[in-house]
Amino acid sequence: MLGVKARVCPVPAEATFALRQRVLRPHQSIAEMALPGDDDPSTLHLGAVDEAGEVVGALRLQPAVCPWYPSRPDAWQLRGMATSADLRGHGIGAELIAAAVRHIAVSGGGLLWCNARVPAEAFYARAGFLATDNRWDDPLIGPHVGMLREVSAS
Ligand SMILES: CC(C)(COP(=O)(O)OP(=O)(O)OC[C@H]1O[C@@H](n2cnc3c(N)ncnc32)[C@H](O)[C@@H]1OP(=O)(O)O)[C@@H](O)C(=O)NCCC(=O)NCCS
Repeated sequence: MLGVKARVCPVPAEATFALRQRVLRPHQSIAEMALPGDDDPSTLHLGAVDEAGEVVGALRLQPAVCPWYPSRPDAWQLRGMATSADLRGHGIGAELIAAAVRHIAVSGGGLLWCNARVPAEAFYARAGFLATDNRWDDPLIGPHVGMLREVSAS
């Protein structure tokens, strides 16, 4: 249940670019916000859309080999996870992940993984992710940890 008036739904990739830039990659331009695979038919973009139609939360889900379990054929990568700074702590991020998990569940289940920024590690843990031993520093963005969780078929 969201603590703010917004609904989680599929959105076009482009609808998430302003939020991606503001929250995740302010050192880059809007024109650089597109990620490889954004337009693949199997890629799902979820947005939390407020009453004014603005995307205030977003994530992207795509079938992608998990670097730590490369033999898993059912792996999905979570990217572009962001909530607008003024609306954090109201359940938007959790609701977006829950919708992503439902999508994987109805698609047959699988392994959900992400390259988590360390300041968001506890958020992912709260959403059922486990940290792997894989930790690294991105020179521009900071420390990361590989995280994952299993999703059962529904
Ligand atoms: C991480 C982020 C997406 C969380 O979004 P949010 O909408 O604030 O998350 P929610 O309100 O749904 O929080 C869900 C739960 O996680 C907890 N949580 C959220 N962020 C947390 C954090 N940084 N540290 C610890 N716990 C956190 C909340 O307290 C809540 O716990 P509860 O269920 O016990 O109430 C948001 O803080 C953000 O955009 N951060 C900057 C960008 C970023 O780091 N993205 C991740 C890139 S890998």
